[in-house]
This record gives sequence, C-alpha cells and structure tokens, in this order.
Amino acid sequence: MAEKKYVASIDQGTTSTRCMIFDHDGNVVAVGQMEHEQIFPKAGWVEHDAAEIWDNTRKVCAEALANKDLDSDDIAAVGITNQRETTVVWDKKTGKPVYNAIVWQDTRTDPICKELAGDDGADKYKDVVGLPLATYFAGPKVMWILENVDGAREKAEAGDLLFGTMDTWVIWNMTGGKNGGVHVTDVTNASRTMLMNLDTLEWDESIAKDMGIPMSMLPEIRSSSEEYGKVRHRGVLRGVPIAGALGDQQAATFGQVCFEPGTAKNTYGTGNFLILNTGEEKVMSKNGLLTTVCYRIGDQKPVYALEGSIAVTGSLVQWLRDNLKLIKDAKEVEKYAKEVDDNGDVYVVPAFSGLFAPHWRSDARGVVVGLTRFANRGHLCRAALEAVAYQSQEVVKAMNADSDVEMTELKVDGGMVVNETLMQFQSDILDVEVIRPKVNETTALGAAYAAGLAVGFWKDLDELRRQWAEDKRWKPSMEDDERQRLLGRWSQAVERTLDWAE
Ligand code: G3P
Repeated sequence: MAEKKYVASIDQGTTSTRCMIFDHDGNVVAVGQMEHEQIFPKAGWVEHDAAEIWDNTRKVCAEALANKDLDSDDIAAVGITNQRETTVVWDKKTGKPVYNAIVWQDTRTDPICKELAGDDGADKYKDVVGLPLATYFAGPKVMWILENVDGAREKAEAGDLLFGTMDTWVIWNMTGGKNGGVHVTDVTNASRTMLMNLDTLEWDESIAKDMGIPMSMLPEIRSSSEEYGKVRHRGVLRGVPIAGALGDQQAATFGQVCFEPGTAKNTYGTGNFLILNTGEEKVMSKNGLLTTVCYRIGDQKPVYALEGSIAVTGSLVQWLRDNLKLIKDAKEVEKYAKEVDDNGDVYVVPAFSGLFAPHWRSDARGVVVGLTRFANRGHLCRAALEAVAYQSQEVVKAMNADSDVEMTELKVDGGMVVNETLMQFQSDILDVEVIRPKVNETTALGAAYAAGLAVGFWKDLDELRRQWAEDKRWKPSMEDDERQRLLGRWSQAVERTLDWAE
C-alpha cells in the first residue's frame, strides 16, 4: 500500500464547497471547488439545496484527487469543516431532505425567537448555551421546519427525521447515508444550535422541549478530533477515516494555531468572524459577543472562545457585483476604491440579515447614507470596504471590554485579505497591527490538522505551531483624531439601520 502522505479537508462553505489536499508541511497540493445555488425565496430568506451540496462534495473530492493524480490510498484522513448553523432536516429512510437547508443568514425565525424569548428576553438561554436568541442559530430553524413543512412534525415524532448542520449532513452521507450513515456532530458545531449545554457538552433536553424538537432527531455530539467513521459511499476517498470536524470559524482558529488563551483571528469571508481563544475558561460576554466552543481534541478538556460574528462583509462586495452591477468582478472593488481620496462621507451599513455582533438587532436593515451628487462608484466601493473594517472594529472593542485586555495584533485570513487597501484601513481603524499568514487557507487547514492529529499524521500541537509563518504585516498610520471622526460617523450610520423591519 502507498505511503499516506496527505490529509484531505472538505470545506462546505456558504457559497461553495471545496476539497483541499495538504501535505505534511501544511501546504496545499490540490484543490477542487464548486459553487452552489443561493436561493432567496423572499426578502430575508436564504436557502441551499442540501442534495446539490452533497453532490458537489463528491465531485470536488474527485477533482482534487485527480488534480494531483492521487487516490484514497494516499490519504491518511479526511477532515470536515463547514458553514455553521445552516440547518438540514432529512428523512433517514430515503436520505432526502424534507426542505431546503435554511442558511445561517436567513431571518425568517425572528417571530419564533421573539416567542421563545417571551418576557425573559433574548438572553433567556444564554447562561446555558452562550448565545442570545437570534435568527442566526440552528434550533429555531429546526422548529420552523417542523412547524411549516407538511407532515414533518409527525415524521419527526415517529423517529424518522434527522437534524444536522452541514458537517453532520456530509458525514452521514459519506459514511453510508440511508444504509447506516453515522449521525454525529462535533462540539463546535453543536455549540451553534442553541441546544447544547456549554458545560456538559450534551444536548439540553429542556431547551429542545421548548423548541418542540424530539431528541431522536439530534446527532451524537463528539469531539473535533477523533475518528467518526470511514468513508463508505461509492466513489473517491473510500475507506479513508473521517477524523476531524470543526465549524469553519473554529477551524480557521485552529489553522491559525491560536492554541493559547488570548490568541485571536479574524476571518474575512462571506461574513467576518473574530474568535478569541479563552482557554478552558468559558467567558460570558457582557458586550454582545458569543461564548462558544473553540475546539476539543479527543477526550481532552474543551477549549472555549469568545466570538464576534458579522453577517455581511464579503457578501457586500458580491451584492455590489450581482445586485447593483457596480463592479464586474470582486477584485474591482479595490481598484475603484483607490480612485477616490476618501469615502466622500458615504457610509454603507450592510444590515442585510439584521445586525449580528455586537448589536443583535434582527430588525435592522441596510442603509447607504451621505449620498450627494458628488458621490460616485469609487466612494461606494470605498464605503463598502470601510464597512468591513468598521464592523470588525466594533467587535474588537467588545472583545477588549469583555477580556479586560487590549488586543495588540490581529491575525487575519479569508478571501478578502488579499485586498491591501482593506488591510491597511483595518490596521488604521483598529490601531493595531494586522498579520496575514503564508498559508491563507486556514479554514481547510484547521480541519486537516484536526483529522491528521487524530490519526497520528501530525504528532502534537507543537508540530503544528511550527508550521505557521507570517506573510505580511500592516501597521497603523492614521492620526487618532481622524480615526475617531470616522468611527463617530460610522456609529451615526448604524443608528439609521435600526427599527426598519416591519
Ligand atoms: O457562522 C457562519 C459561518 O460559519 C459562515 O462562514 O465562511 O461560509 O461565510 P462562511
């Protein structure tokens, strides 16, 4: 049998599914990638076709292996990472979803969240699950499906339906689907459902009961790094152990080797997600951040994190491209932003899914303010990029307040960190140094690391720490007066987004 020189990682993201193959030094040696349809049935609703995603998963794995002329025998393990909170409910006998996957950005569960909150308010379950009641999380999405899809509740109560986030859906299908697929999730994904007790790392029966979710639908909660099963579906990766699973933001934290308490990363993807490792201590936020599981390796103690989730950053650039047709290609946003000296006093607040951290206002809606006859495409592009940085600044401010320690530098990753204008502005507006690693594919790398650790492909965290290398660092160069002026204007713009939803 060939020596197993590689680990595969499947990154099932919001806009695409990718398979990446990593070598022992943590370098990407092959990639397969496919986008899937974004379904917007009405304002505020966002869905994915889970069957399309599973199809794409198989294809991208085949593509990645073919690109490097590899087969299953070359792969020591596969790790899964995924868009978190996105919710699928399927029939375990047919393997078919009963409804499209409801995506994390979807706001249809706002009335459900308000009803659950009742007089206790949005923080009703926060002590147990670390999260406020908000449309973002999975539990209320399951509740919506059971209440709105014909026959779903009866089937669920008969034990015929399964729930999963995308990790669970992919692992169940990879391990045999309706012919004995393994129904599991990892602690990081489970911590985004509003259903897991952060101390016991078990499902909280009373919250599940409040949401009308039968316990039989819920997957078994496992660690982020252990063997869940072997790939059993026909086709590529057959026989390879699936040995790592992490929600994508926790995976990026792992890939950035943020293993010590106090280390943090900010990922610039569809949205932005800043995660601060708080170690074995579970810190409850007083400033609008989430308490979540960072990772758990095998039967070791879990590591917790504080998270600032921002719903819309990279997807704002997509919106400029697809909805406004202001740019042809995402890369053009930087080109036009550089054509103007400043934002021309234009601010875009992309509250497309309401506002997430630190505001948690599902009733907020997006605004563009400050338009005059002077404003042009460059100002709008500049305002869009600045919006990414201002939103991250709000989250960093909340983190500093929660942890009592000023952040001095920030590791970044994700698609938008190639944008030099944005990175410099981020450093300026935060007044901290911003650092990009050499391997920017930290999400996929983190899942590969988790899987590789479980099968002994990598020895320990120290070996992983040594692989991290800096690529570029941006230093703040803005005067404080100017920083404060811009932040003041941004806050005024944010005020204008509130209370708009019917
Ligand atoms: O919580 C949502 C997050 O996991 C989505 O990440 O990278 O798919 O936009 P991404």
